[in-house]
Amino acid sequence: MNPNAASLPLPSALSNTEIELRLLMEAIYLRYSYDFRNYTVASQKRRVLHALAQLGLPSISALQEKVLRDPLLFGRLLEFLTIPVSEMFRDPAYFLALRRHVVPILHTYASLKVWVAGCSTGEEVFSLAILLREEGLLSRTQIYATDINPASLEKARQGIFPIESIRGYTANYQRAGGRSSFSDYYTAAYDAARFDPALCADVIFADHSLATDSVFAETQFVSCRNVLIYFNRELQDRALGLFHESLCHRGFLGLGAKESIDFSSYAGRFDAHSQPERIYRKAT
Ligand SMILES: C[S@@+](CC[C@H](N)C(=O)[O-])C[C@H]1O[C@@H](n2cnc3c(N)ncnc32)[C@H](O)[C@@H]1O
Repeated sequence: MNPNAASLPLPSALSNTEIELRLLMEAIYLRYSYDFRNYTVASQKRRVLHALAQLGLPSISALQEKVLRDPLLFGRLLEFLTIPVSEMFRDPAYFLALRRHVVPILHTYASLKVWVAGCSTGEEVFSLAILLREEGLLSRTQIYATDINPASLEKARQGIFPIESIRGYTANYQRAGGRSSFSDYYTAAYDAARFDPALCADVIFADHSLATDSVFAETQFVSCRNVLIYFNRELQDRALGLFHESLCHRGFLGLGAKESIDFSSYAGRFDAHSQPERIYRKAT
């Protein structure tokens, strides 16, 4: 007789929280087709625990039960899961490097297509549009600004940002090599700054997921900042694959300050162009 035969199975090494998170992400995918399954466990956990506290729910399982049946609650949860945090000329050194080391090469193209992937509420798009206008490129540029959060995309389309952010954005703009007065680009009214709509005349804001969608255009420059940081290796590779496929021969890719292609399977397929600022150039 095997003395162990009747003993209980060994529990998995996964914590209950990890199991509940996986089940929640699977439920969201099956019900709403939003795929958060390959976001890092650390980021899923942080965001979901924050959502539980804000929504007054006792457990991840309770959240799952409700979210499956309540699309409005899912809409609220999406705000927590997507981290819609941004600022204009975020990491000014990145925009300065674009001006100095990328713009001169972009000038050699008759027309340009730029993809801002994970554009959130639009601050990065407006920053790039201002930079491209100052460098004489905006009139020949089509910008695709994509995200999975419809509420963020709607805010981005409006181009209205809180007035209290403007002081910080102005400092960023100047450090990014801004050639004008930042106040030339917006009209202040009460607690808001409305940016010149002409900046976005050739911007298409659209829903696109780096987790589930495919490439939609050939581009010369992809800017995807502070998005890959939330993805696990497999999903980072998927996104980098989309960027590689979208970019023209020797096109440019800009990532966030804490992001890199070094450990991805695309490491050998991009050259570092401005290394500290995480700007790469398609190699093969
Ligand atoms: C922290 S914000 C970064 C905003 C901006 N790029 C910046 O650097 O300021 C991350 C954005 O990535 C978007 N995002 C998350 N998962 C995505 C996915 N699978 N496909 C496209 N965008 C995604 C979120 O909705 C959010 O707007």
